[in-house]
Amino acid sequence: MSASTPVPLPLTDGTVTLRATRDGDGATLIAGRDAAFHRFMGEGTPDPRPTAVIEVDGELAGWVDYDDERSWLEPHQCNVGYHVFATHRGLGYATRAVRLLLELLAAQARYTEATFVIDAANGPSLRVATAVGATERDRPVNTDGRPEVFLVVPVVDPIAGLDA
Ligand SMILES: CC(C)(COP(=O)(O)OP(=O)(O)OC[C@H]1O[C@@H](n2cnc3c(N)ncnc32)[C@H](O)[C@@H]1OP(=O)(O)O)[C@@H](O)C(=O)NCCC(=O)NCCS
Repeated sequence: MSASTPVPLPLTDGTVTLRATRDGDGATLIAGRDAAFHRFMGEGTPDPRPTAVIEVDGELAGWVDYDDERSWLEPHQCNVGYHVFATHRGLGYATRAVRLLLELLAAQARYTEATFVIDAANGPSLRVATAVGATERDRPVNTDGRPEVFLVVPVVDPIAGLDA
């Protein structure tokens, strides 16, 4: 597949499926928020419409999202976020889902880098970011004075990359 060919949702690796958010998902996504979500992601929007929800065995297990609306992003960058419900954690689903999201971004060919801004105390999220190949670029402090880790991963089409 070339870098200019969009990959439509759903997209699966055989274990995890990313599918477009549907009407009615919002209530399940909100119900899936727990203390870890609120600690690291704040209150959360009352009308969640992420890029994709994560499905495992036909069950909604969380979501992945990206945006390019933060003032500090460079034009070729987008920022990635994710949540896996507590019932589904520790099974590699976030790592699989973020890998699929990066595949989707590569096929769109709009961004060359994906960024992660992660609370320095959020070990599981840091593991997800490093597992998908992100590397630390900075250690900023957020507006509440909490240390964060800023990581970046190249967004590359693995097939197109073979021609380079
Ligand atoms: C961060 C989060 C998405 C990880 O989801 P997950 O599906 O459990 O992640 P994975 O199973 O892919 O695990 C990723 C790594 O974290 C480790 N991990 C998962 N849960 C962990 C825990 N509670 N404590 C320590 N390590 C943990 C896994 O062992 C794995 O490490 P490895 O690759 O070295 O084996 C999930 O914990 C979550 O939704 N947290 C709340 C919301 C949040 O913090 N989102 C990210 C904001 S930047």
